[in-house]
Amino acid sequence: MSFPVHRPRRLRQTAALRALVRETELSLTHFVQPLFVRAGRRLRRPIPSLPGQCQLSVDELVKEAGALVQLGVPAVILFGIPDHKDEQASGATGIVPKAIRALKQEFPELLVIADVCLCEYMSHGHCGVVKAGRVDNDATLPLLARVAVAYAAAGADIVAPSDMMDGRVAAIRSALDKAGHTHTPIMSYAAKFASAFYGPFRDAAESPPQFGDRQSYQMDCANAAEALREVALDLDEGADIVMIKPALSCQELIWRVKQRFHVPVAAYNVSGEYAMLKAAIQNGWLDERASVLEQMIGLRRAGADIIVTYWTKDLARWLRER
Ligand code: PBG
Repeated sequence: MSFPVHRPRRLRQTAALRALVRETELSLTHFVQPLFVRAGRRLRRPIPSLPGQCQLSVDELVKEAGALVQLGVPAVILFGIPDHKDEQASGATGIVPKAIRALKQEFPELLVIADVCLCEYMSHGHCGVVKAGRVDNDATLPLLARVAVAYAAAGADIVAPSDMMDGRVAAIRSALDKAGHTHTPIMSYAAKFASAFYGPFRDAAESPPQFGDRQSYQMDCANAAEALREVALDLDEGADIVMIKPALSCQELIWRVKQRFHVPVAAYNVSGEYAMLKAAIQNGWLDERASVLEQMIGLRRAGADIIVTYWTKDLARWLRER
C-alpha cells in the first residue's frame, strides 16, 4: 500500500508536529571546543585561516573558558604552541600543563581534554622522534607516555593521543597507571587519516612538517577496513573513547564503528571543514547558523557521541536562543 494512503508530508505540517517526531536532537553536552594556548600575557592572536579562533595566553584562555562555561559548554581540548621547538619536543610539558592547572583551578567542572602529540613541539614538525630522516615509532612511545602523564598530573580530565604511532595507547595506559592515574580516560584519535583538511590547524598550531608529509603514520583516506582495525587495536590497548578524524568525509565510518564496537565515538570536525564553510558564509553563499546546525545534526545522526568542533561556542549561543 502506498500513496494516497501513505503521505509522509502529514507529519511535516507544523513545527510542533515536526518536533514531535524528530529523531535526533542537538544538545551542548556532546560538544568540545578546541583552544590554542601559548606563552605570554594578554595575548589574543587571531588565526587568519580559522576566522573567529585565536591563539591565547593563559590569562586570556581562562577568560575564554569563563565565557564558554557561562554558555554551558562542557568541554575543551587544548593544543599548545611552545616558545621553543627542538628534536625531543621538550616544550610539550611546558605551556599545556600550566594551562590545564589554571583552567581546573578556576573551573573545576569544565572537562579539560589534553591533546597528546609532539608535532607542535618538534623543530621538524613531525608527530614523532625522527631518526635518519624517518619517524621512529618505538622511540616516540616513551615521550608520548611522559607527556600524557604530565597532563594527567596537571589535572587533565582526558588525554587524547593524536600522533598515530602504533602502540601508543598501551604505552600511555601503562604509564598513567604506574603514575597512579588509573582513572584518567584515554580518547584516542584511533582512525586519523592523512587529510588535506588539517591545513588551517597547522597554521594555528604552527606545526606543519618541515620535510615530507604525515602519510607514513596517518592513514590512507581510501581505507575503511584499516580504520576498523585501528579502532580495534586501540580499544584492545585500553582506549576508552575512539575518535574518527576528519568528520565530514568519514561519516560512514562513524556509523560502522558505533555499530560494531559499542563504545563512545568522537568525531573531529577539523579545521579545514570549519574554514571552508566559514569562507562560503563570509561570501554570503551559505547561511551560517542553518548550515552548521545541519552538519552537526548529520554527525550526531551518523552516530557521533562526541563532536569536537570550532563551532562549539557559536552552537552554545544558537542552542540557547532556540
Ligand atoms: C596534532 C593534531 C592535528 C590535528 C589535531 N591534532 C594536526 C595534524 O595531525 O597535522 C588537526 C586538527 C584540525 O585540523 O582541526 N597531530
